[in-house]
Amino acid sequence: MAKNIYSKPVLFTILAVGTVLVGTLVTTFIPMMTAQMHPKLAGLKPYTALQLAGRDVYQSEGCPFCHTQTVRPLKTEVERYGAYSKAGEFYYDRPFLWGTKRTGPDLAREGGKYPDAWQYAHFKDPRAFSPHSIMPSFGWLQDSKLDPAQVQTHMNVLGFPYTPADIQALADKTRLDALVAYVQTLGTAVTRKAAVTAAVTVKKVHIKNPLAGNHEAAERGERLFEQNCEACHGKKGVGYIGPSLKDKNVFLYVKGNVPDDDYFDIIHNGTREGGVEDGRKEKGGMPSFGETLKKDEIWSLVTYIRSLQGEKEE
Ligand code: HEC
Ligand code: HEC
Repeated sequence: MAKNIYSKPVLFTILAVGTVLVGTLVTTFIPMMTAQMHPKLAGLKPYTALQLAGRDVYQSEGCPFCHTQTVRPLKTEVERYGAYSKAGEFYYDRPFLWGTKRTGPDLAREGGKYPDAWQYAHFKDPRAFSPHSIMPSFGWLQDSKLDPAQVQTHMNVLGFPYTPADIQALADKTRLDALVAYVQTLGTAVTRKAAVTAAVTVKKVHIKNPLAGNHEAAERGERLFEQNCEACHGKKGVGYIGPSLKDKNVFLYVKGNVPDDDYFDIIHNGTREGGVEDGRKEKGGMPSFGETLKKDEIWSLVTYIRSLQGEKEE
Protein backbone atom coordinates (compact mmCIF):
# COMPACT_ATOMS: atom_id res chain seq x y z
CA MET A 1 0.00 0.00 0.00
CA ALA A 2 2.71 2.46 1.05
CA LYS A 3 4.63 1.59 -2.06
CA ASN A 4 1.53 2.31 -4.16
CA ILE A 5 1.16 5.91 -2.87
CA TYR A 6 4.79 6.72 -3.57
CA SER A 7 4.36 5.60 -7.14
CA LYS A 8 1.27 7.82 -7.72
CA PRO A 9 2.46 11.46 -7.71
CA VAL A 10 -0.98 13.07 -8.25
CA LEU A 11 -2.69 11.16 -5.42
CA PHE A 12 0.33 11.75 -3.19
CA THR A 13 0.20 15.52 -3.79
CA ILE A 14 -3.54 15.69 -3.07
CA LEU A 15 -3.19 13.71 0.17
CA ALA A 16 -0.16 15.72 1.31
CA VAL A 17 -1.86 19.08 0.64
CA GLY A 18 -4.98 17.79 2.42
CA THR A 19 -2.99 16.77 5.49
CA VAL A 20 -1.25 20.15 5.69
CA LEU A 21 -4.57 21.99 5.28
CA VAL A 22 -6.23 20.03 8.08
CA GLY A 23 -3.22 20.74 10.30
CA THR A 24 -3.44 24.46 9.55
CA LEU A 25 -7.14 24.49 10.20
CA VAL A 26 -6.81 22.79 13.58
CA THR A 27 -3.81 24.75 14.86
CA THR A 28 -4.58 28.20 13.43
CA PHE A 29 -8.19 28.85 12.54
CA ILE A 30 -9.98 26.99 15.32
CA PRO A 31 -8.05 28.76 18.12
CA MET A 32 -8.80 32.09 16.38
CA MET A 33 -12.51 31.51 17.05
CA THR A 34 -12.06 30.96 20.78
CA ALA A 35 -12.60 33.75 23.32
CA GLN A 36 -9.17 33.02 24.79
CA MET A 37 -7.56 34.56 21.70
CA HIS A 38 -9.44 37.84 22.25
CA PRO A 39 -8.65 38.77 25.85
CA LYS A 40 -10.07 41.95 27.34
CA LEU A 41 -8.76 43.68 30.43
CA ALA A 42 -11.24 44.20 33.25
CA GLY A 43 -12.05 47.91 33.34
CA LEU A 44 -11.39 48.47 29.63
CA LYS A 45 -14.22 50.49 28.05
CA PRO A 46 -15.14 51.06 24.40
CA TYR A 47 -14.11 54.49 23.09
CA THR A 48 -16.59 57.31 23.63
CA ALA A 49 -17.68 59.30 20.57
CA LEU A 50 -15.16 62.07 21.32
CA GLN A 51 -12.30 59.63 21.98
CA LEU A 52 -13.05 57.70 18.79
CA ALA A 53 -13.02 60.94 16.80
CA GLY A 54 -9.62 61.68 18.38
CA ARG A 55 -8.38 58.27 17.36
CA ASP A 56 -9.30 59.09 13.76
CA VAL A 57 -7.30 62.31 14.02
CA TYR A 58 -4.38 60.31 15.43
CA GLN A 59 -4.46 58.06 12.37
CA SER A 60 -5.07 60.74 9.75
CA GLU A 61 -2.29 63.01 11.07
CA GLY A 62 0.21 60.15 10.88
CA CYS A 63 1.09 60.06 14.57
CA PRO A 64 1.90 56.30 14.32
CA PHE A 65 4.76 57.12 11.92
CA CYS A 66 6.63 58.75 14.80
CA HIS A 67 5.07 57.18 17.89
CA THR A 68 4.55 53.57 18.98
CA GLN A 69 1.79 52.44 21.33
CA THR A 70 3.30 49.32 22.75
CA VAL A 71 5.76 48.78 25.57
CA ARG A 72 7.80 45.61 25.15
CA PRO A 73 8.46 43.40 28.20
CA LEU A 74 12.07 44.56 28.51
CA LYS A 75 13.53 46.14 31.64
CA THR A 76 14.70 49.28 29.83
CA GLU A 77 11.28 49.88 28.28
CA VAL A 78 9.31 49.20 31.46
CA GLU A 79 11.53 51.62 33.39
CA ARG A 80 11.12 54.33 30.81
CA TYR A 81 7.44 54.00 29.89
CA GLY A 82 5.75 51.91 32.61
CA ALA A 83 4.00 48.52 32.67
CA TYR A 84 4.52 46.52 29.47
CA SER A 85 1.57 46.18 27.07
CA LYS A 86 -0.95 43.36 27.55
CA ALA A 87 -2.94 41.76 24.73
CA GLY A 88 -6.17 42.57 26.60
CA GLU A 89 -5.59 46.32 26.28
CA PHE A 90 -6.30 46.39 22.57
CA TYR A 91 -9.72 44.72 22.53
CA TYR A 92 -11.45 47.81 21.13
CA ASP A 93 -8.60 48.90 18.84
CA ARG A 94 -9.55 48.42 15.21
CA PRO A 95 -7.04 48.65 13.66
CA PHE A 96 -4.15 48.50 16.15
CA LEU A 97 -1.97 51.60 16.20
CA TRP A 98 1.16 49.97 17.54
CA GLY A 99 3.40 51.70 15.03
CA THR A 100 6.87 50.55 14.06
CA LYS A 101 9.18 53.46 14.72
CA ARG A 102 9.94 55.67 17.70
CA THR A 103 11.00 59.05 16.42
CA GLY A 104 9.09 60.40 19.41
CA PRO A 105 8.51 58.48 22.66
CA ASP A 106 6.11 55.55 23.06
CA LEU A 107 2.61 56.75 24.00
CA ALA A 108 1.14 53.52 25.40
CA ARG A 109 1.13 55.00 28.93
CA GLU A 110 0.57 58.65 28.00
CA GLY A 111 -3.00 58.94 29.39
CA GLY A 112 -3.06 60.95 32.62
CA LYS A 113 0.70 61.55 32.53
CA TYR A 114 0.11 65.29 32.14
CA PRO A 115 -2.95 67.51 32.70
CA ASP A 116 -5.15 68.29 29.64
CA ALA A 117 -3.80 71.85 29.57
CA TRP A 118 -0.28 70.46 29.05
CA GLN A 119 -1.45 68.35 26.10
CA TYR A 120 -3.15 71.34 24.45
CA ALA A 121 -0.11 73.56 24.94
CA HIS A 122 2.29 70.85 23.71
CA PHE A 123 0.24 70.14 20.57
CA LYS A 124 0.15 73.87 19.81
CA ASP A 125 3.87 74.32 20.29
CA PRO A 126 6.02 71.23 21.03
CA ARG A 127 9.15 73.37 21.03
CA ALA A 128 7.95 75.36 24.04
CA PHE A 129 8.45 72.17 26.07
CA SER A 130 11.33 70.52 24.30
CA PRO A 131 13.40 73.08 22.33
CA HIS A 132 14.77 70.59 19.76
CA SER A 133 11.55 68.68 19.22
CA ILE A 134 10.87 67.81 15.57
CA MET A 135 7.20 67.08 16.28
CA PRO A 136 5.00 69.25 14.01
CA SER A 137 2.69 71.80 15.66
CA PHE A 138 -0.94 70.72 15.61
CA GLY A 139 -2.48 73.96 16.84
CA TRP A 140 -4.49 74.29 13.61
CA LEU A 141 -6.63 71.30 14.69
CA GLN A 142 -8.23 73.77 17.09
CA ASP A 143 -9.84 75.53 14.08
CA SER A 144 -11.20 72.32 12.60
CA LYS A 145 -14.65 71.28 13.87
CA LEU A 146 -15.76 67.65 14.16
CA ASP A 147 -18.45 66.22 11.91
CA PRO A 148 -20.92 64.51 14.32
CA ALA A 149 -22.66 62.55 11.52
CA GLN A 150 -19.39 60.99 10.43
CA VAL A 151 -18.47 60.02 13.99
CA GLN A 152 -21.92 58.49 14.45
CA THR A 153 -21.46 56.31 11.36
CA HIS A 154 -18.09 55.18 12.66
CA MET A 155 -19.61 54.31 16.08
CA ASN A 156 -22.27 52.23 14.32
CA VAL A 157 -19.75 50.35 12.19
CA LEU A 158 -17.68 49.42 15.25
CA GLY A 159 -20.76 48.68 17.37
CA PHE A 160 -19.69 50.99 20.19
CA PRO A 161 -22.48 52.22 22.48
CA TYR A 162 -23.50 55.91 22.39
CA THR A 163 -26.52 58.12 23.04
CA PRO A 164 -27.91 60.85 20.74
CA ALA A 165 -26.73 63.35 23.38
CA ASP A 166 -23.12 62.10 23.01
CA ILE A 167 -23.27 62.79 19.28
CA GLN A 168 -24.91 66.20 19.74
CA ALA A 169 -22.22 67.17 22.23
CA LEU A 170 -19.64 66.81 19.45
CA ALA A 171 -21.08 69.76 17.52
CA ASP A 172 -18.97 72.39 19.27
CA LYS A 173 -15.89 70.24 19.75
CA THR A 174 -12.75 70.64 17.65
CA ARG A 175 -10.45 67.96 16.33
CA LEU A 176 -7.87 69.07 18.91
CA ASP A 177 -10.37 68.47 21.77
CA ALA A 178 -10.91 64.99 20.36
CA LEU A 179 -7.19 64.27 20.03
CA VAL A 180 -6.52 65.31 23.64
CA ALA A 181 -9.47 63.19 24.87
CA TYR A 182 -8.04 60.20 23.00
CA VAL A 183 -4.43 60.64 24.12
CA GLN A 184 -5.64 60.89 27.74
CA THR A 185 -7.19 57.37 27.51
CA LEU A 186 -3.98 55.65 26.40
CA GLY A 187 -2.96 52.97 28.88
CA THR A 188 -5.43 54.01 31.57
CA ALA A 189 -6.99 50.51 31.79
CA VAL A 190 -3.68 49.14 33.07
CA THR A 191 -2.89 49.53 36.74
CA ARG A 192 0.12 51.75 36.93
CA LYS A 193 3.18 50.87 38.93
CA ALA A 194 3.17 54.43 40.25
CA ALA A 195 -0.35 54.22 41.66
CA VAL A 196 0.69 51.30 43.81
CA THR A 197 3.82 52.85 45.30
CA ALA A 198 2.01 56.14 45.94
CA ALA A 199 -0.15 54.58 48.63
CA VAL A 200 2.85 54.04 50.89
CA THR A 201 3.70 56.98 53.13
CA VAL A 202 7.05 56.95 54.85
CA LYS A 203 7.89 59.18 57.76
CA LYS A 204 10.90 61.12 56.61
CA VAL A 205 13.99 62.69 58.03
CA HIS A 206 14.37 66.23 56.68
CA ILE A 207 17.55 67.35 54.95
CA LYS A 208 18.52 70.99 54.53
CA ASN A 209 19.41 72.41 51.10
CA PRO A 210 23.25 72.39 50.95
CA LEU A 211 23.09 75.28 48.44
CA ALA A 212 20.57 77.40 50.38
CA GLY A 213 21.07 81.13 49.80
CA ASN A 214 24.02 80.56 47.42
CA HIS A 215 23.91 83.26 44.73
CA GLU A 216 25.58 81.18 41.99
CA ALA A 217 23.25 78.27 42.68
CA ALA A 218 20.25 80.60 42.36
CA GLU A 219 21.51 81.81 38.96
CA ARG A 220 22.12 78.26 37.78
CA GLY A 221 18.66 77.34 39.09
CA GLU A 222 17.13 80.20 37.11
CA ARG A 223 18.64 78.88 33.86
CA LEU A 224 17.49 75.33 34.62
CA PHE A 225 14.05 76.65 35.48
CA GLU A 226 13.72 78.44 32.13
CA GLN A 227 14.67 75.25 30.28
CA ASN A 228 12.68 72.69 32.24
CA CYS A 229 9.92 74.29 34.27
CA GLU A 230 8.79 77.59 32.73
CA ALA A 231 6.55 75.89 30.13
CA CYS A 232 4.33 74.65 32.99
CA HIS A 233 4.98 77.00 35.90
CA GLY A 234 5.14 80.24 33.91
CA LYS A 235 7.82 82.93 33.80
CA LYS A 236 9.50 83.27 37.20
CA GLY A 237 7.13 80.68 38.60
CA VAL A 238 3.96 82.79 38.47
CA GLY A 239 1.91 79.67 37.67
CA TYR A 240 0.25 78.35 34.50
CA ILE A 241 -0.38 74.60 34.05
CA GLY A 242 1.40 73.95 37.33
CA PRO A 243 0.72 76.07 40.43
CA SER A 244 2.48 79.32 41.28
CA LEU A 245 5.72 78.72 43.19
CA LYS A 246 6.00 82.23 44.61
CA ASP A 247 4.13 81.79 47.86
CA LYS A 248 6.20 79.87 50.37
CA ASN A 249 3.17 79.51 52.60
CA VAL A 250 1.29 77.27 50.15
CA PHE A 251 2.55 73.88 49.02
CA LEU A 252 0.33 71.37 47.20
CA TYR A 253 -2.78 73.49 47.87
CA VAL A 254 -2.34 73.39 51.67
CA LYS A 255 -1.29 76.40 53.77
CA GLY A 256 2.02 76.28 55.61
CA ASN A 257 5.69 76.35 54.57
CA VAL A 258 7.45 73.01 54.04
CA PRO A 259 11.15 72.09 54.43
CA ASP A 260 13.50 72.38 51.41
CA ASP A 261 13.68 68.65 50.88
CA ASP A 262 9.95 68.43 50.11
CA TYR A 263 10.71 70.69 47.15
CA PHE A 264 13.66 68.45 46.28
CA ASP A 265 11.43 65.33 46.42
CA ILE A 266 8.67 66.74 44.27
CA ILE A 267 11.17 67.80 41.56
CA HIS A 268 13.04 64.49 41.80
CA ASN A 269 10.00 62.17 41.86
CA GLY A 270 7.23 64.17 40.16
CA THR A 271 3.63 63.71 41.30
CA ARG A 272 0.76 61.40 40.48
CA GLU A 273 -2.94 61.49 41.15
CA GLY A 274 -3.56 60.10 44.62
CA GLY A 275 0.10 60.42 45.63
CA VAL A 276 1.13 62.01 48.92
CA GLU A 277 4.07 64.33 49.67
CA ASP A 278 4.71 65.07 53.34
CA GLY A 279 1.05 64.46 54.18
CA ARG A 280 -0.29 66.63 51.32
CA LYS A 281 -2.33 65.19 48.48
CA GLU A 282 -1.08 65.42 44.90
CA LYS A 283 -3.38 65.91 41.89
CA GLY A 284 -0.70 64.67 39.50
CA GLY A 285 0.83 66.15 36.37
CA MET A 286 4.27 67.15 37.60
CA PRO A 287 6.87 65.06 35.71
CA SER A 288 9.88 63.60 37.53
CA PHE A 289 13.33 65.05 36.90
CA GLY A 290 15.33 62.52 38.93
CA GLU A 291 16.73 60.96 35.79
CA THR A 292 17.48 64.11 33.80
CA LEU A 293 18.83 66.48 36.49
CA LYS A 294 21.72 65.89 38.90
CA LYS A 295 21.27 66.29 42.65
CA ASP A 296 23.04 69.66 42.83
CA GLU A 297 20.98 70.91 39.87
CA ILE A 298 17.78 70.05 41.75
CA TRP A 299 19.09 71.82 44.88
CA SER A 300 19.96 74.84 42.68
CA LEU A 301 16.35 74.89 41.51
CA VAL A 302 15.19 74.83 45.13
CA THR A 303 17.53 77.76 45.87
CA TYR A 304 16.06 79.64 42.90
CA ILE A 305 12.45 78.91 43.96
CA ARG A 306 13.30 80.13 47.49
CA SER A 307 14.72 83.35 45.97
CA LEU A 308 11.41 83.84 44.10
CA GLN A 309 9.70 83.48 47.46
CA GLY A 310 11.79 86.35 48.83
CA GLU A 311 14.51 84.38 50.61
CA LYS A 312 17.77 86.32 50.84
CA GLU A 313 20.90 85.21 48.96
CA GLU A 314 24.55 85.67 49.88
C1 HEC B 1 7.92 63.89 13.00
C2 HEC B 1 7.63 63.02 14.10
C3 HEC B 1 6.42 63.26 14.97
C4 HEC B 1 5.09 63.31 14.60
C5 HEC B 1 4.50 63.22 13.21
C6 HEC B 1 4.35 63.42 15.84
N1 HEC B 1 5.19 63.46 16.91
FE1 HEC B 1 4.65 63.53 18.85
N2 HEC B 1 6.60 63.69 19.41
C7 HEC B 1 7.67 63.62 18.55
C8 HEC B 1 8.90 63.84 19.31
C9 HEC B 1 10.31 63.87 18.74
C10 HEC B 1 8.52 64.03 20.66
C11 HEC B 1 9.43 64.31 21.87
C12 HEC B 1 9.68 65.80 22.02
C13 HEC B 1 8.45 66.57 22.41
O1 HEC B 1 7.92 66.39 23.52
O2 HEC B 1 7.96 67.37 21.61
C14 HEC B 1 7.05 63.93 20.69
C15 HEC B 1 6.29 64.03 21.83
C16 HEC B 1 4.92 63.77 21.90
C17 HEC B 1 4.13 63.71 23.10
C18 HEC B 1 4.65 63.92 24.52
C19 HEC B 1 5.11 62.61 25.07
C20 HEC B 1 5.61 62.71 26.49
O3 HEC B 1 5.16 61.90 27.31
O4 HEC B 1 6.43 63.59 26.78
C21 HEC B 1 2.84 63.42 22.74
C22 HEC B 1 1.65 63.24 23.66
C23 HEC B 1 2.83 63.32 21.30
N3 HEC B 1 4.11 63.53 20.82
C24 HEC B 1 1.69 63.04 20.56
C25 HEC B 1 1.66 63.11 19.17
C26 HEC B 1 0.44 63.00 18.41
C27 HEC B 1 -0.94 62.73 18.99
C28 HEC B 1 0.79 63.16 17.11
C29 HEC B 1 -0.14 63.23 15.91
C30 HEC B 1 -1.13 64.27 15.94
C31 HEC B 1 2.24 63.33 17.06
N4 HEC B 1 2.72 63.30 18.33
C32 HEC B 1 2.96 63.46 15.90
C33 HEC B 1 7.63 63.38 17.20
C34 HEC B 1 6.48 63.37 16.42
C1 HEC C 1 4.33 69.22 32.63
C2 HEC C 1 4.16 70.39 33.43
C3 HEC C 1 5.16 70.62 34.54
C4 HEC C 1 6.53 70.79 34.42
C5 HEC C 1 7.38 70.72 33.17
C6 HEC C 1 7.00 71.08 35.76
N1 HEC C 1 5.95 71.07 36.64
FE1 HEC C 1 6.07 71.38 38.64
N2 HEC C 1 4.10 70.99 38.82
C7 HEC C 1 3.23 70.72 37.79
C8 HEC C 1 1.92 70.42 38.31
C9 HEC C 1 0.68 70.06 37.49
C10 HEC C 1 2.03 70.52 39.71
C11 HEC C 1 0.94 70.22 40.74
C12 HEC C 1 1.20 68.77 41.12
C13 HEC C 1 0.09 68.03 41.83
O1 HEC C 1 -0.91 68.60 42.23
O2 HEC C 1 0.27 66.79 41.95
C14 HEC C 1 3.40 70.89 39.99
C15 HEC C 1 3.91 71.12 41.27
C16 HEC C 1 5.18 71.58 41.54
C17 HEC C 1 5.65 71.97 42.85
C18 HEC C 1 4.82 72.01 44.13
C19 HEC C 1 4.36 73.43 44.22
C20 HEC C 1 3.17 73.74 45.08
O3 HEC C 1 3.22 74.76 45.74
O4 HEC C 1 2.19 72.98 45.06
C21 HEC C 1 6.95 72.38 42.69
C22 HEC C 1 7.90 72.92 43.78
C23 HEC C 1 7.28 72.23 41.30
N3 HEC C 1 6.18 71.75 40.64
C24 HEC C 1 8.53 72.56 40.77
C25 HEC C 1 8.86 72.33 39.44
C26 HEC C 1 10.19 72.52 38.91
C27 HEC C 1 11.38 73.06 39.67
C28 HEC C 1 10.14 72.14 37.60
C29 HEC C 1 11.28 72.10 36.59
C30 HEC C 1 12.43 71.30 36.95
C31 HEC C 1 8.77 71.75 37.30
N4 HEC C 1 8.03 71.86 38.44
C32 HEC C 1 8.32 71.33 36.05
C33 HEC C 1 3.56 70.72 36.45
C34 HEC C 1 4.82 70.80 35.94
